[in-house]
Amino acid sequence: MSLPSPFLATALSHEVCIVTGASGEGICLTIARCLLEHGAVGVVICGRREQVLRQSAASLVAECCPAQPERVAYRVCDVRSPDACHRLVEFTVGKYGRLTTVVNGAAGNFLSTARNLSPNGFKTVMEIDVCGTFNMCHAAFKALSSAASAPGSPMSKIVNISATLQYGATHYQVHASAAKAAIDSMTRTLALEWGAHGIRVNGVAPGPIAGTPGLTKLAGGALDAGALEEMVAEVIPLGRMGEKRDIGTVVVFLCCNGSGSAYVSGETIVCDGGAWLWKPAI
Ligand code: HXC
Repeated sequence: MSLPSPFLATALSHEVCIVTGASGEGICLTIARCLLEHGAVGVVICGRREQVLRQSAASLVAECCPAQPERVAYRVCDVRSPDACHRLVEFTVGKYGRLTTVVNGAAGNFLSTARNLSPNGFKTVMEIDVCGTFNMCHAAFKALSSAASAPGSPMSKIVNISATLQYGATHYQVHASAAKAAIDSMTRTLALEWGAHGIRVNGVAPGPIAGTPGLTKLAGGALDAGALEEMVAEVIPLGRMGEKRDIGTVVVFLCCNGSGSAYVSGETIVCDGGAWLWKPAI
């Protein structure tokens, strides 16, 4: 049973959001759900697989806004294509009249030793994660700054989904670690440059989150989900795996326009139960 959200159900009632990488059953679909549950007037989910997106959008409508299906839309978008990102922004502004929030969640990942990883494998993950995040931010800049400049409007928001792999070093993750480190750097630089344009730029770094493809991959298929979650929970200082909603609620906080969150920019919030602090005794 998830803990309740501490935020008002109307906290995001000004927001029109794009969430990338939200097609499957990873964290980002739950982020979209949390944005809708807190009143977002429009949420456009995007990914590469149309059929999965269609099903995900239908489930969001059924769970969050059955009487207002127009609050959810989906678009196929490979974030590696700057043109596709521009079309996604155009679609969103055309449908909802503005764009106020972008959540960059699209990410590629698999386990591979650095030695066995082909240069193209490394490049592919960098292109999805790093170039994809930049492409989306770049394509959205004009719409986000324009929404923030309307009289009485709050600042616009970008939230980049990061990780904790890169804080130390992680086996089999040279590509993803390098990519997430670059994303953290981009979060800070865009916050620096775009604050004056009315855009707050932040990140969230999830730890091990139950029921995600990321966690399944981490185990390399060696354990079933239950055994894996039990094993991981044992070494997490807070004694439990994270839930997708833990991440969604941190994103909601970063997107709130009230006191506190409205003064946070350039920050990547770690939401991992203290997991990355843990080291085995040597
Ligand atoms: C080694 C691999 C590989 C694998 C792909 N490649 N999968 N190398 N092991 N398992 C290599 C290919 O051999 C190829 O290089 C290059 O990568 C491009 O592969 P394509 O299949 O042509 O690319 P594409 O169709 O664009 O797909 C890229 C993809 C992506 C990265 C595999 O489909 C993907 O990762 N999808 C899953 C997304 C996902 O699970 N996201 C959640 C991330 S969670 P060559 O040299 O052969 O041409 C997360 C948080 C951290 O990031 C979690 C910790 C684990």
